[in-house]
Amino acid sequence: MWDVLESFYDSVPRPGSRVEDHGELVLFLQAGDGYPFYARPRFPGGAPALADVLAVRERQRELGVPEAFEWVHETTPGLLAVAVEAGLEVLPAPLMVLDPEKLPEPHPHVRVLDTRPAEVPVVAELAFSSPGTEKGEAGIAERDAALAEATPTSTRHRHAVADLPGEGVLAVGTAQRAGDVVEIVGIGTLPAARRRGLGAAVTAGLARDALDRGAELVFLSAGSLDVARVYERVGFRRVGTACIAAPPA
Ligand SMILES: CC(C)(COP(=O)(O)OP(=O)(O)OC[C@H]1O[C@@H](n2cnc3c(N)ncnc32)[C@H](O)[C@@H]1OP(=O)(O)O)[C@@H](O)C(=O)NCCC(=O)NCCS
Repeated sequence: MWDVLESFYDSVPRPGSRVEDHGELVLFLQAGDGYPFYARPRFPGGAPALADVLAVRERQRELGVPEAFEWVHETTPGLLAVAVEAGLEVLPAPLMVLDPEKLPEPHPHVRVLDTRPAEVPVVAELAFSSPGTEKGEAGIAERDAALAEATPTSTRHRHAVADLPGEGVLAVGTAQRAGDVVEIVGIGTLPAARRRGLGAAVTAGLARDALDRGAELVFLSAGSLDVARVYERVGFRRVGTACIAAPPA
């Protein structure tokens, strides 16, 4: 499974990206479709040393892109100490795989689309601006104000919305695919609409859609242990750790 995941991580950002090789690291740039810029170990088998990380950080600064790094701890265990030595802060995110038998019944108001309605980036941005799983202030009014400014964007991924009668889109998520592997990303619920089961429902909708379309492996990484509980409830279990590193804020 680790090889399958490494191959996925190496291939999914390539379409629409410019890719630079820097020793044991690969730097993805100009990624289309909202995919973030970051560097990760060369596939197969990259084992980055301190000099590789420092060289990529310098290149990222030169290009004016985030000094971001991502890898799977089980595949590249040595990079954790190297990243810390290079002055980066590392977020260890639970890496979770779907057990298809445990998927709940579909939510009646979740739809999966192969277009990206403007609500998807707008709701995701409001959600990620209020990190954690607690309820917050921003809700329908803030969404609608942001939507008035939003322009449609194209996509090569699938997107899910929880679109409630009389309320509109309250939660969103995205599924990106390479081969038979699907990663679910960008799950977000408007802060005012949290704790109604919508984050879980959107995740489950994307997972069901991926299985229906022949995916062999559906996975995600959870931003925290609190978030991981939401995913556990719809059939994901922790198998490892995805490391996300950046300079201290
Ligand atoms: C993580 C996130 C998507 C969860 O969205 P959500 O819609 O609140 O998720 P759910 O409602 O399915 O679950 C959240 C909690 O509400 C509880 N809940 C679900 N339905 C409920 C109901 N009807 N009544 C009361 N509580 C309920 C769940 O049990 C869960 O509780 P827990 O925190 O004790 O485990 C949301 O908090 C968010 O957008 N966070 C910021 C962005 C983010 O971190 N995204 C994930 C990146 S990996």
